[in-house]
Amino acid sequence: MKESAVKKIVVLTSGGDAPGMNAALRAVVRTASHYKIECYGVREGFNGLINDDFTKMGPRSVKNIITEGGTILKSARSLEFKTAAGRKKAFENCQKHGIDGMVCIGGDGTFRGAKVFNEEFGIKTIGVPGTIDNDIFGTDNTIGYDTALNTAMEAIDKIRDTATSHNRIFFVEVMGRDAGFIALNSGLATGAIGILIPEKKDSIEELFATFERAEKAGKASSIVVVAEGEKLGSIYDIAKATQTGFPSYDIRVAVLGHIQRGGSPSCADRVLASRLGYGAVIGLMDGKTNMMVGMKSNRMVYTAIDEAVKKHNEIDQDLLKISEILSI
Ligand code: F6P
Repeated sequence: MKESAVKKIVVLTSGGDAPGMNAALRAVVRTASHYKIECYGVREGFNGLINDDFTKMGPRSVKNIITEGGTILKSARSLEFKTAAGRKKAFENCQKHGIDGMVCIGGDGTFRGAKVFNEEFGIKTIGVPGTIDNDIFGTDNTIGYDTALNTAMEAIDKIRDTATSHNRIFFVEVMGRDAGFIALNSGLATGAIGILIPEKKDSIEELFATFERAEKAGKASSIVVVAEGEKLGSIYDIAKATQTGFPSYDIRVAVLGHIQRGGSPSCADRVLASRLGYGAVIGLMDGKTNMMVGMKSNRMVYTAIDEAVKKHNEIDQDLLKISEILSI
């Protein structure tokens, strides 16, 4: 085996936490240990680089964390790292510890920070996509997305029980920032009559037509899933407009919120995180830098970080059509 391009690496989790980040951390630490690469965990994302919050990690530091939600390293969206002075401090601390490689587990904000840092100071960097939003190009799924999707689905199933008992219309908001992946898939999986996502041009008229269709079909209660980034308006505005259009409806709004970010990762997320954490270290050892490791069609692939944050995975429009046909 050829000599590794890195000898001492750091690993950090940054941005919104996602279930499976711990599993990815475990994979990074244990792969590094297997190949005799020193590995330091950095607390609270890029803030830890600035504050010199480094801890040496070995296989036992990551015991029993594959099952845990959140991130034992903690996470942050560092404002100081956005400044040149903050990044300089971070680099000086890396230099002090002799760091020559970095694994950043997070979403697009994390990758943007990692890219600038790499361009300024040259420390080899690999990104691991960890976000519930699934909004990163270069991987079919991001770590945490599957768990969040299942959490949303279970919550919406519970809402359906009460919606049915009271003949109510529920508008349920799910997370995803500017992306509608969670909304689209949880909506289809829970039989929502309407799915409002930012990737599609929605209109109130179209939504009203759906309610009329549902009524004609004899539906007494319904769920509409709304992505938090929906462009038609806030979930409250949409619910209010519906109440005006259909005064007899008994309408409620439920915002699922951060429940979607917590919980023990699903099997799919643990497997994905293990593969990507391993792939990140192998990539660094091979000399790769400013790349993100992802899984596409069950194959490990490396994509330039720049491309990963600038491009977008397309929403599958067929799913919307299928949901429309099946829900009423
Ligand atoms: O990016 C993950 C995410 O949970 C988004 O879905 C959501 O828009 C955002 O983070 C919420 O951020 P915060 O935890 O800072 O409120």
